[in-house]
Amino acid sequence: MLKLEAVTAGYGDILAIEDISFDVPEGSVFALLGANGAGKTTTMMTIAGHVSPKSGTIFYDGTDLMSVATSRRVQKGIAIVPEGRRLFPDLTVAENLVVGGYSRSRTEESARIAEIVEYFPRLGERIDQRAGSLSGGEQQMLAMGRALMASPRLLLVDELSLGLMPKVVDDCYAVITRLRQAGLTILLVEQNTERALAIADRVCVLESGRIAWSGSAKDARRNEALVQAYLGVATETN
Ligand SMILES: Nc1ncnc2c1ncn2[C@@H]1O[C@H](COP(=O)(O)OP(=O)(O)OP(=O)(O)O)[C@@H](O)[C@H]1O
Ligand SMILES: [Mg+2]
Repeated sequence: MLKLEAVTAGYGDILAIEDISFDVPEGSVFALLGANGAGKTTTMMTIAGHVSPKSGTIFYDGTDLMSVATSRRVQKGIAIVPEGRRLFPDLTVAENLVVGGYSRSRTEESARIAEIVEYFPRLGERIDQRAGSLSGGEQQMLAMGRALMASPRLLLVDELSLGLMPKVVDDCYAVITRLRQAGLTILLVEQNTERALAIADRVCVLESGRIAWSGSAKDARRNEALVQAYLGVATETN
């Protein structure tokens, strides 16, 4: 569904990611891991179209994305939950959701909001509350809800669990599981490697803008050297 081929991107003269290639099969969860500054956000922003690659190609659903503008990528089904959430604090929960829905009709919009509230009942309870007054967990739910308003087929989530309490992290991951069951393809950036490895099918570890390792989540957990070097989680014994 998503294929990166030798993608290099950065800011001005700085190269933040170099020669990144990976494949994300439809309906799978793909985790992008790595230390601070490794290039995870840059990779996500390049797929979403907010950063232009200097070289390389990105294919989505068989189409070369390089000629597709950012707003058209949303229409084609690519939505991002950005790092730091980027909500409008003075707008209400409902208004923030509507912003994510782009040019839908009122009827479609209400139907979609109803679906999102079904995923995140807390958002329903706080529908007219200002986004800035929500807890961190509720804000993350709202950021996810806003991305889902566009009915994406590919969801990019940058730092799903960062700064959230374990119970809220459970809730967010439960939604990711449901979205996968509903057929979405999910690209997940996580600091919490344990969580990411538990849900992902495939994993790619970035180091200083390059791919240090990629493979199945299962192999990642069993790879002691990899775990020691990058992942810091308990290895599986069987
Ligand atoms: N707007 C920017 N201007 C210049 N350099 C940037 C910019 N954003 C990121 N970088 C640089 O690009 C490199 C990759 O950063 P990126 O944000 O992609 O990493 P990350 O893996 O998402 O890190 P983190 O875990 O801290 O979110 C870093 O060296 C960073 O300093
Ligand atoms: Mg980042």
